[in-house]
Amino acid sequence: MQNYQKQISAIAMFEISAENNPTVRQYRQIARIHEASFAEPWSPEVLRSLGEMTGVKIYLAIDSDDGKNCLGFLIVRATADEAEILTIAVGVEHRRSGVARCLIKRAIRDLRDQSCLHVFLEVSVANLAAKRLYENFEFKVVGTRTAYSRNSDGGYDDASVMRYQFN
Ligand SMILES: CC(C)(COP(=O)(O)OP(=O)(O)OC[C@H]1O[C@@H](n2cnc3c(N)ncnc32)[C@H](O)[C@@H]1OP(=O)(O)O)[C@@H](O)C(=O)NCCC(=O)NCCS
Repeated sequence: MQNYQKQISAIAMFEISAENNPTVRQYRQIARIHEASFAEPWSPEVLRSLGEMTGVKIYLAIDSDDGKNCLGFLIVRATADEAEILTIAVGVEHRRSGVARCLIKRAIRDLRDQSCLHVFLEVSVANLAAKRLYENFEFKVVGTRTAYSRNSDGGYDDASVMRYQFN
């Protein structure tokens, strides 16, 4: 396990999907982090429906010290040989501690094991933190979507489409 800054001593990864009976508490934790992170929050019910879709997997980063506290999450949808990171967010108080890096590493490792060829995602052009995070993993910009995501001023920002290509 890597060393993390701040109060997190270690991060455990936990996967939820339709097969392993995720709890209401888990969906509530994810919804809380989502609400604090995006202008258009997803409810626990919406997250549950998403989690039950074929090919969708939700990774939870859990604080190993208590085994329960959700630090952040990533949702990915995989089809035959392609995948899309639908969203990722980390609790405000746990940011810049390597949580998102850990989530992406794990998702990419699993997708590689499933013989995935490409991973796509969309990121607002204004979201410099997320863009930097993805660039560190060698995601490359391959397109743009106009007026894609709602911003905190009530307007819409364009998004870059980014792709990670497995070797
Ligand atoms: C983007 C987000 C997921 C990053 O999560 P995080 O756990 O804080 O990221 P990490 O600590 O793993 O950072 C990994 C790298 O990403 C980059 N990064 C992360 N946050 C950054 C910031 N605020 N500014 C610049 N670079 C940043 C850095 O390169 C960082 O490496 P470093 O700390 O060694 O410099 C988090 O800020 C978040 O939840 N934002 C709100 C939701 C969101 O925008 N999601 C993305 C939707 S596309």
